[in-house]
Amino acid sequence: MSHAEDHDGSRRDFLYYATAGAGAVTIGAAAWPLIDQMNPSADVQALSSIRVDVSSVVEGQQLTIKWLGKPVFIRLRTEADIDLARSVDLDDLVDTDSRNPNKPGPATDENRTLDDEGKWLVMIGVCTHLGCVPIGNGAGDYGGWFCPCHGSHYDAAGRIRKGPAPENLYIPVASFVDETTIKLG
Ligand code: FES
Repeated sequence: MSHAEDHDGSRRDFLYYATAGAGAVTIGAAAWPLIDQMNPSADVQALSSIRVDVSSVVEGQQLTIKWLGKPVFIRLRTEADIDLARSVDLDDLVDTDSRNPNKPGPATDENRTLDDEGKWLVMIGVCTHLGCVPIGNGAGDYGGWFCPCHGSHYDAAGRIRKGPAPENLYIPVASFVDETTIKLG
């Protein structure tokens, strides 16, 4: 991908956020300048690992940042989110792979979340159908994310449940480096 193409993609993503719901925009607006300063060159690929301060995220909110040219959703889930996601029968899933390099295996909720309690869910915010950015904050028929491009519904663990998308939302390599900092990459 050329630098010019990459920049076009970034701008599209950003414009999408501006219309994607007040919660995401409020936090996203605070996060963008920081991330952009850390990423001064045209070549975003050079920045393969970043640390994200998640201390300002409250339960039920999602922080959206850009990493390697893609949006990354960092959501602090509610108890209701966790209960909903953990009540799902694996036989009902379209894609049974966790899509999580940190915890490979079946797509249980436990295998998708960053922490064992299941509070933090970190995902690449790119629909696995054709690459739109899904809307979050409990959107769609399964209390998770909804991609308006062609109507894909993801559940509270980011697993595809209905619509044309074939795979669960992907999870990046991620870890906590301290209580309020998540490292991507
Ligand atoms: S790109 Fe998301 S449903 Fe088509």
